[in-house]
Amino acid sequence: MDVGGGLGGVPYHRDTDPVPTPAEYADAVMPVFLDGIKSIGIRPEFWVEPGRYLLADSTVLLSRVNSVKRSHKTFVNVDAGFNLLLRPAMYDSYHEVVVANKTGPENAKEETQNVVTVTGPICETGDIIAHDRLLPPVASGDLIAILDTGAYGYSMSSQYNSRPRCAEVMVNNSQEGLMRRAESIIDIKQTMNTLPWQK
Ligand SMILES: Cc1ncc(COP(=O)(O)O)c(C=O)c1O
Repeated sequence: MDVGGGLGGVPYHRDTDPVPTPAEYADAVMPVFLDGIKSIGIRPEFWVEPGRYLLADSTVLLSRVNSVKRSHKTFVNVDAGFNLLLRPAMYDSYHEVVVANKTGPENAKEETQNVVTVTGPICETGDIIAHDRLLPPVASGDLIAILDTGAYGYSMSSQYNSRPRCAEVMVNNSQEGLMRRAESIIDIKQTMNTLPWQK
């Protein structure tokens, strides 16, 4: 019996999501499974294929603030959009956002923070990464880290709006390396042909 991703979720809401460890998961599920298969007289294996559980928190998507716009809400516009991370726009997934260059204690006081909506640079109203989040005061040039982006990030990404994809850097303790280089506009065009009648 294969339950796919299974019940082992990802604590996207770091403070409030109760997420079982693999052992807690097995302790909760296996007795019920073993009882069930015994009662119907079959002996299937129990399989899980955890994807997000293994990968989601491996990756941080780093974006830079292009502008801050104050209207009925405060919008923090960053340079990463749904071409890089489709999940929030596609099915309203939750990703914590952190102002990566303002993580000191002076920025942690709630009374100095503001509720903002973090949006991408794409020409669609749905290009929203995070709704109504409490963040320290943000200005253009700041770095916004979007957490838990290791699953369904690159694999669901696109070059929509002719936007080349970003580089990916792997960090291993004190080592770091370019795992995937950034794309350029040339990468976007390189599979295109000019047809004879266009010359
Ligand atoms: C059959 C199967 N296995 C594994 C997965 C991985 O699930 P997740 O990445 O949510 O853990 C999926 C996701 O849809 C799936 O359909």
